[in-house]
Amino acid sequence: MVMDARREQAERLRGYFEVQLLFAEAMAEKTSRPLSDACLEVTNLHRRLGLGRAGGGTVSAGWARYADGLERRPRAERLDWTLDFFLETPPEESASLRFGCFSYEPQDAGQVVRIHFSNRDSEGGQGPLARAKAERRISELREMFGHVRTHHPGAQTVRGGSWLYNLEAYRRLFPPDYGASRFEPERVRLDGTSSWGQLLDFRESVKPAVRQALLDNMRHLDIAAPWKVFPMRALGAQGAVEDFRRFYGG
Ligand SMILES: CC(C)(COP(=O)(O)OP(=O)(O)OC[C@H]1O[C@@H](n2cnc3c(N)ncnc32)[C@H](O)[C@@H]1OP(=O)(O)O)[C@@H](O)C(=O)NCCC(=O)NCCS
Repeated sequence: MVMDARREQAERLRGYFEVQLLFAEAMAEKTSRPLSDACLEVTNLHRRLGLGRAGGGTVSAGWARYADGLERRPRAERLDWTLDFFLETPPEESASLRFGCFSYEPQDAGQVVRIHFSNRDSEGGQGPLARAKAERRISELREMFGHVRTHHPGAQTVRGGSWLYNLEAYRRLFPPDYGASRFEPERVRLDGTSSWGQLLDFRESVKPAVRQALLDNMRHLDIAAPWKVFPMRALGAQGAVEDFRRFYGG
């Protein structure tokens, strides 16, 4: 049963993995680096394959095995290898504290909270950001900021970084000043979801128009700033915790 669900998810994610491999191949070609190194830098495969956050200079045994298989296979077999590997690995660790679609991560000794969003609500054949679901999302945020107040009373600042800040449908869930603070960061990491997430719809299928725009833009891939070829730029946002409390009435 669990395996069937994983297999279904692997099939859903086929398109997502395919575009990420194409992107990594383009980076590897332009930089003359191994494909697996490019995958570590510009795809979220390390996390998606259940291996957690990459980094720290050492490569996990799991990644070494995946990378070895990837390098040895011809191009046409790389996607299947990735999906097979996905099937063997445990599901990604979900944030231990989740408030529906939201979670947070305390940073800077608890002075900063970083917001994360992932879809946990496709009910009724509607995505989580549909207007009809805005009140649900706001209740989740109200609960989350109640939790922040109890467990991180010293938190002053809220930060986020995502393509989602381009969308009014996302910004309307937050205090207006937080949405208005959005800015283009100097650098954008591509080993998470902050840019890659825009490829997906709420069913985890790839959005064809976004895929095409990305592939078209890849002709002008700049290896010093690869995030610039995404149709939407991941934006940063910052606000005062106090503003959030006032906004949600907590
Ligand atoms: C966020 C996510 C659910 C959006 O998928 P979706 O199928 O577009 O979902 P929804 O229908 O809920 O969202 C649609 C809303 O966003 C808007 N939207 C979504 N993609 C858009 C795009 N490319 N351009 C303009 N608007 C867009 C829609 O117009 C709609 O707003 P509206 O209701 O005011 O019309 C999906 O991309 C996802 O799960 N991504 C992975 C998670 C992620 O990116 N997390 C960020 C981590 S930093």
